[in-house]
Amino acid sequence: MAKVKLLEFKQVNSTSDYLKANYQSLNSFTIVRADYQTKGRGQFERTWNSARGKNLLCSLLLKDVPLNQITLIKEWVKSSIFSLLGSYGLDVYFKEPNDVYVDDKKLCGILIETQSSGQKFDYVIIGIGLNLNQILFQNFKATSIFRETKKVLNVRQVLSKLTANLLESYF
Ligand code: BTN
Repeated sequence: MAKVKLLEFKQVNSTSDYLKANYQSLNSFTIVRADYQTKGRGQFERTWNSARGKNLLCSLLLKDVPLNQITLIKEWVKSSIFSLLGSYGLDVYFKEPNDVYVDDKKLCGILIETQSSGQKFDYVIIGIGLNLNQILFQNFKATSIFRETKKVLNVRQVLSKLTANLLESYF
């Protein structure tokens, strides 16, 4: 079974950028989590804003991945998030390319970034922004688990459940 290393920060520019900058000295299955990102990024070069300490902001590093595994990786991540959210009683659906919605509101965004050389990816970095306890959003089309269920969740516990799901279903 893969061995996970968790690095946690109060503040970082972006958990995905941290992994990009340091991947050479880190092992596959390193996870970076931060309470706050000063330069959180989303798909299509959008900014990912998240209230300090309220949400799950993390990135997972996979190294030396065969090019033909990328579809499998996307499905693996999606199904692990799907199980996690189901365990909180949420009925979610995925919207292409990598968004998780409840009704017409976005709950979670996934950003998958790669760098390849030859027949493999040097890295696949999977960034996950999952809204847990945030109540107010600038974007009225966003929501959080708290808004949907009125349950306050512990960020670390949520990450540990997600990590368990990922490990359990790793191919
Ligand atoms: C999207 O829906 O556009 C994807 C959002 C991904 C946000 C996460 S938060 C953790 C990681 N670090 C980042 O800078 N972005 C991803």
